[in-house]
Amino acid sequence: MSGYPDYMQESLELVKKTRPSRVGKALPEMTAEEKEKILRDWHPDFKMDQKRELKIGPSKGVLMPHEVADTLEAHPIIKPRDIDLTNIDHDVDVLIIGAGGAGLSAALLAQENGVAPDKILMIQKLRLGDANSKMSQGGIQAADAPDDNPAIHYLDVIGGGHYENKPELVELLVKEGPDVIKWHEELGVMYDKLEDGTMQLAPGGGTSRKRMHSCKDYTGLEITRVLVDEFLSRGISYLELTSAVELILDDKGQVVGAVLYDMDSDEYKVCRAKATVLATGGFGRLHIQGYETTNHYGATNDGVVMAYHAGAVLRDLDSTQFHPTGAAYPEQIVGQLCTEKLRGRGAQPLNKHGELFVYPLETRDVEASALIRECYGRDNGIITPTGMRGVWLDTPLIDIINGEGTIEREFAAMLRNFNKFGINIREEPMLVFPTLHYQNGGVEINAETETSIPGLFAAGEVCGGVHGKNRLMGNSQLDLYVFGRRAGRFAAERAKTAEIGKLTLNHLDKYEKWLREAGVETDRKAPILLPEYRGKKTIEHQLKLL
Ligand code: FUM
Repeated sequence: MSGYPDYMQESLELVKKTRPSRVGKALPEMTAEEKEKILRDWHPDFKMDQKRELKIGPSKGVLMPHEVADTLEAHPIIKPRDIDLTNIDHDVDVLIIGAGGAGLSAALLAQENGVAPDKILMIQKLRLGDANSKMSQGGIQAADAPDDNPAIHYLDVIGGGHYENKPELVELLVKEGPDVIKWHEELGVMYDKLEDGTMQLAPGGGTSRKRMHSCKDYTGLEITRVLVDEFLSRGISYLELTSAVELILDDKGQVVGAVLYDMDSDEYKVCRAKATVLATGGFGRLHIQGYETTNHYGATNDGVVMAYHAGAVLRDLDSTQFHPTGAAYPEQIVGQLCTEKLRGRGAQPLNKHGELFVYPLETRDVEASALIRECYGRDNGIITPTGMRGVWLDTPLIDIINGEGTIEREFAAMLRNFNKFGINIREEPMLVFPTLHYQNGGVEINAETETSIPGLFAAGEVCGGVHGKNRLMGNSQLDLYVFGRRAGRFAAERAKTAEIGKLTLNHLDKYEKWLREAGVETDRKAPILLPEYRGKKTIEHQLKLL
């Protein structure tokens, strides 16, 4: 019994028919020239009419998607006069904004570096641990195998990022990778192991070694489970359903906390802090160029917006990551992640004729471009009942190549997710299309995770520089813990000596002035905090009903 509509059966038959001849076969990797051409012709980053130069601020002139520029060329949601900065609700040493992998790691390391649990405050827009980190599936890279080392990992990261990464950050990422895995294991993360007790490692797109450590296909969930447990057991303070809406500066130009918004009580609160860590994640929910997304509901670019209001320098926001394989069918899960590990274990992307059209483990930007070309340049995609296009990802090959039971054992989450809709991925392929996955750029940091504003540290997806213009699979998980831990350590150090001056939100008036001077006329406001999925018509209709 097939989980797909009748009209797709002819194409599915072709997939089945060509399968035996494809076992163990792969198209060769593209040449450097072919990669450059396919990116230029098909990658969404190269659609120049979909971007513009930012009109204001320290990174004025930097190119970025319209959707991102829209959040930066927007009015702050509060005015300085709305907030009484003399009324301090929370007075802490370290404020951490965001409770995903980077925020949790920062909190643990701040505490280990001498900050008392009640002098750390971690805030989270939704619930503790609700973040993209938790949704990560395929794995985390770290060069700890006998045939691998950080220098090889370094070359992969830099090549994948088109040589535009910040080298000192990449060096830290790869050198501290093996320590992160040890730290996780000491805390209780259960990585997949082989019978001899060594790590089970898989390849990813653009990796020259098998370096992906995994916990089945819910790696992020397992790591977050352990970090949240550890965080709670140490009694560190936190607030849920609380967003930061602006950073607070002092009269010396330092960041000294944030204005918080309690989403439950609809009240603003003032948090004064000697050091502030921004760990707010990415911007997937901005749906760049209308793409579906794998991202968490809270991924709305708030961190970049707040940092920019305060004067932080940004970088690499012209480049966005589209994961090659988001679900294209069934409708209920469109855009959700179908992990790269599926291709790492042998699944092949196929067109409607059941033909392989790309090497399955190209770097993500190249692989995504090949899928887009197959669907829109060559008309070789399968059209879904809602008009979307996709290609097959031939998952049954995984059990054929690696032995029966592999899918059940290693892809428990994928198997279950598709089973709910009557698709058994052991017998039928998935239908996939690229989906917005990651923000490659963001706030610029140095090796100490300091931004360009004293007192403000940043870690994780909100930052730019680590991954250059294209991130490789499993390096964002690593980035979270390497730089989250560093941010916690350096923020704790700063808190020991920092002296806070008079609190101010005058930078918001300055920002309004920049907007006026640049002729930006808009009623947009940011940070937007939560995405808006109701159409304009629906909102108008609902307002009429009130
Ligand atoms: O495909 C994946 O499992 C995603 C991993 C990542 O973005 O690192």
